[in-house]
Amino acid sequence: MKLGNILLIGFMGVGKGSLARELARRKGSFAIDTDDLIESFENRKIRRIFKEEGEQYFRNLEQQVAKWLQDNVRNTIISTGGGFFAVDNLREIGTVVFLKSSFNAILNKIINHPNAEKKLKKRPLFRDVGQAEKLFHARQPLYAAKADFIIDVEGKSAPEIANSLIEQIPS
Ligand code: S3P
Repeated sequence: MKLGNILLIGFMGVGKGSLARELARRKGSFAIDTDDLIESFENRKIRRIFKEEGEQYFRNLEQQVAKWLQDNVRNTIISTGGGFFAVDNLREIGTVVFLKSSFNAILNKIINHPNAEKKLKKRPLFRDVGQAEKLFHARQPLYAAKADFIIDVEGKSAPEIANSLIEQIPS
């Protein structure tokens, strides 16, 4: 199975990070996150990188991370930022799983979260909800085109999603 990695892609707030941690726990493996790798490499937060350098700079960092993952990371669960799917070697890194949900379900989950303000603040592309919704619709076919598996996650908990994923994906 490719490099043994599982890559979770999908829109902001769909639950990629929580699912990655749940899957890692079950598989006795580790979870890493592309945004975390970028923040530690740059030693500053994503929102500051966007503000100080602009989006293109951030996208170049994502491509750098993608190359590093392909060269160095094996048998790991990788959660990704919502735009990471666009790197040119995505499918070389591992088995790609697209977590699918409606925009409204994602929005409600973020808004009703006890840490809603923090969740919005760390996502510069979610500040304008109308723009975020447009981006959501534009990206859905692009996520699907890159995916080996598509999992409907709406209304499901991380353990429930992990169950169906583990059934579907050969380990
Ligand atoms: C982005 C999603 C964010 C983060 C950055 C850009 C996007 O990650 O990488 O703000 O383009 O959708 P999450 O999907 O973890 O929120």
